[in-house]
Amino acid sequence: MTKDEILDALTRVDASALFEEARRVRQTTKGQGVFLRGLIELSSVCERDCLYCGMRRSNPKTFRYSLSDDEILTSAKLAQQYHFGTVVLQAGECVGLWTQTRVAELVRRIKGETGQKVTLSLGERTEADYAAWRAAGADRYLLRFETTDRNLFTRIHPGNYTSDEHPRLACLHILKALGYEVGSGMMLGLPGQTLASVVNDLVTIQDLQLDMVGLGPYLADPQTPLGQSKESCEVPVSVDFTCRCYAMVRLLLPQANIPSTTALSTLDAQQGRLRGLSSGANVFMPNLTPVKYRSGYRIYPDKICVSAPEMDEMQALLNDFTALGLTPVEA
Ligand code: 5AD
Repeated sequence: MTKDEILDALTRVDASALFEEARRVRQTTKGQGVFLRGLIELSSVCERDCLYCGMRRSNPKTFRYSLSDDEILTSAKLAQQYHFGTVVLQAGECVGLWTQTRVAELVRRIKGETGQKVTLSLGERTEADYAAWRAAGADRYLLRFETTDRNLFTRIHPGNYTSDEHPRLACLHILKALGYEVGSGMMLGLPGQTLASVVNDLVTIQDLQLDMVGLGPYLADPQTPLGQSKESCEVPVSVDFTCRCYAMVRLLLPQANIPSTTALSTLDAQQGRLRGLSSGANVFMPNLTPVKYRSGYRIYPDKICVSAPEMDEMQALLNDFTALGLTPVEA
């Protein structure tokens, strides 16, 4: 598909043909299964100062917590109990908390004690860290590039970046070479982001032949510098636009695993996740973080949590899937 064709599909008035085609391809490549991944948010401590994120180190209002290894194992055992098949360990970036040895040991324990696959999402780290975790048995790694527009990336991610290469794309290449299944993606509607750059993001997703693609709307957080920006953006923050991007990814990468993200559910708590799943997405990530810590992992305001630990919520989730003709599968 050319860039013009992608742009046209994202912006034309009637997107019904796009959604229909995405559903058809999803059915062929993935069937009617929904893959569930248990999300464990390990810690809200973060050394980075990303301009859009409520967990940025300069935000004094964030409640900082950090799970113990035993708490993490308890959450991972819930994933096993629910037959999810995979846990995703995600945390704010903090090298001192998530040392190479601690994470490697956690991966070994989770795999040994629960049999779950392990996806890591711990940010930009060294090749040695990624290699040690892979050697310990980690299966997958998620790291969004957020935007391929290098100027915009640099503006919203303060850091000592010396190389010309996009720092997260550099990490993704390393992760791929180490044999991880790799996931990445972007936010939609960042101040200053253009539609042309979103098209470039989609082309990059295809070029990288990603195994997983996570993308969602940017949600302005007034506690952050970017959240106070008055700059306009030609990329809509909407359920419809996000779903068009899911559908486009499904066409560009028919085999990819695409989660219907929490940010999308936050835009529309009633319909968001199901609209995602009927636009080409095939993964949902219920939250397994112990309830008492949940409010701390506040990357944007009013983040909704579909919480697996509460059995009734889990049942409501399964009922929703059944209504769509989708069946949870273990993978
Ligand atoms: N709005 C939407 N998504 C956000 N993320 C971080 N801050 C925000 C925000 N304000 C996303 C980023 C990050 C992922 C964990 O959460 O894409 O990679």
